[in-house]
Amino acid sequence: MSTPSIVDIMYERHSVRKYTNQKITRDVLKKIIQVAGSAPSAWNLQHWKFIVVEDQRLKDKLCEAAYGQQQVKDAAASIVILGDTQANLNAEGIYSAAVNAGYMPESAGKNIMDNIKNVYDNVPNAGVQLALQNSSYAAMQLMLAAKAEGIDSCPMSGYDSQAVRTILEIPDRYIPTLLVTLGYASEPAHGSGRFPVEQILVYDKF
Ligand SMILES: Cc1cc2nc3c(=O)[nH]c(=O)nc-3n(C[C@H](O)[C@H](O)[C@H](O)COP(=O)(O)O)c2cc1C
Repeated sequence: MSTPSIVDIMYERHSVRKYTNQKITRDVLKKIIQVAGSAPSAWNLQHWKFIVVEDQRLKDKLCEAAYGQQQVKDAAASIVILGDTQANLNAEGIYSAAVNAGYMPESAGKNIMDNIKNVYDNVPNAGVQLALQNSSYAAMQLMLAAKAEGIDSCPMSGYDSQAVRTILEIPDRYIPTLLVTLGYASEPAHGSGRFPVEQILVYDKF
């Protein structure tokens, strides 16, 4: 059997809500998170963290916080994707490493850090907006990376964010962007259609 292409994986990913009780090994989980963390981000600030919840009691509590959506407790792991609202604090480390690695001259690193400071200091709500936007790209990559490993997922925003914060003791700096359940499918996803490309494609201008 040939390896599926990335396009096959994208089309084959659907939201699976019924899982077997097969666990996902830590090695595979780590690989999936590593791929997720290779997502692009504004200024490469990598505005994300991932809480992998495997403990059954915590999954049960998260299920309550997700208004009883059963897949949260049945999943091998429920992942909370966090957006980092203070990702600007990562800039110094990222840009000194980039300069040391020879990816850019010191002056370019300094310019970028000035831009970052300007945006985070002056654009209203920048920290939250950038956290939600950029961590979403990592969330998508996580689901595709899982699918490439034969693991299905369900993205979920139907949860009480404050309750999730309390259960997992999430510091104020981070906001839950998405809950993603992961596991080996016991039943396929239910069908879902998409708009035809003609409906979503605009060339040049409205
Ligand atoms: C941001 C977001 C939030 C979602 N929230 C939930 C949810 O709370 N519960 C759920 O069962 N599915 C949820 N879904 C899954 C969608 O219902 C599903 O992606 C959509 O119907 C398309 O189906 P497919 O993913 O199977 O292709 C969510 C999907 C996204 C992207």
